[in-house]
Amino acid sequence: MNTLTLIRPDDWHLHLRDGAMLRAVLPETTRHFGRAIIMPNLVPPVATGAQAAEYRDRIMAAKPLNSKFQPLMTLYLTEETDVRDLRAGAEIGLISAVKLYPAGATTNSASGVADFTKVKRVLENMAQIGLPLCVHGEVTDPQVDIFDREAVFIDRVLDPIRRDVPGLRVVMEHITTRDAADYVREADDNLAATITTHHLVINRNHILVGGIKPHYYCLPVAKREEHRRALVAAATSGDASFFLGTDSAPHLDSAKLQPCGCAGCFTATNTLSILAEVFEAEGALDRLEGFTSRHGPGFYRLPLNSDTVTLTKGEPVAYPTAIDTPDGPVTVFDPGMPLHWRVTE
Ligand code: DOR
Ligand code: ZN
Repeated sequence: MNTLTLIRPDDWHLHLRDGAMLRAVLPETTRHFGRAIIMPNLVPPVATGAQAAEYRDRIMAAKPLNSKFQPLMTLYLTEETDVRDLRAGAEIGLISAVKLYPAGATTNSASGVADFTKVKRVLENMAQIGLPLCVHGEVTDPQVDIFDREAVFIDRVLDPIRRDVPGLRVVMEHITTRDAADYVREADDNLAATITTHHLVINRNHILVGGIKPHYYCLPVAKREEHRRALVAAATSGDASFFLGTDSAPHLDSAKLQPCGCAGCFTATNTLSILAEVFEAEGALDRLEGFTSRHGPGFYRLPLNSDTVTLTKGEPVAYPTAIDTPDGPVTVFDPGMPLHWRVTE
């Protein structure tokens, strides 16, 4: 098989930032993706309907001409989130999901939730109207080892929330462990998970062996190989609970290559080529479309995209090593393997 036509993919977890960075990275996503769930962790965060509407306008203004790309906006859940504002945003189709960052879990998460009892009423309203909650699933307890923070989050936070607010629809985002894949697989239809491109490719050795590799540092941090294998198994299984959320998270190289560098892998540019390579290696190319294009709209109760993309297999594709912005380069994720599939239409 040398060509592969897929319903146009969507990205169910994407960081676009703002200003010059937004303008520089947006074409990398709009080239291939129909829609994306846009993360609200700007500074200050996108926390109200009005802020989401303004951010959506800035994204639409930065979009390449002729692109039909649709940003799906999210609100950043804080202990002050206003139920009426949220419901109004959901009703007019402005808000597609709400994002929960435990306070301090990752980049720009200082306004996140510290006391979960304070958001219970918001979560109950979301359950009523079927609005999904996207969760960054890591505890922030300094006593918990960084490699255990996702598994501990399931027991201490996610499972209690789901019991406490029956019917709440949850996306556990960018899962990195066998524990999370098992938990999602065994749960009911109200729980799904996104998996990133980079977590299908790297394990923690890639970050640390032979010198530290800041461009492989992201949150949740990549785990042991057995966990990566569990993610590949989940993504290629055909189970509709698992779908693509790249978590493509651009940072200037000057911010990553620091004694305290920030977290994020920028994968918008080469994601589809990488995924085709990963799925082909598993003998699962026939399941790629489910992962990239069908399962996500299924969970979000949206129509499938009406057009397609075609990938063609040939000589290895040369992607740029970095995207230029006026403030400096953003390094493109290096999958460390030749990529033979390119998007041709
Ligand atoms: O690696 C990450 N980068 N993980 C996150 O959760 C946030 C993201 C970012 O915004 O840079
Ligand atoms: Zn993210």
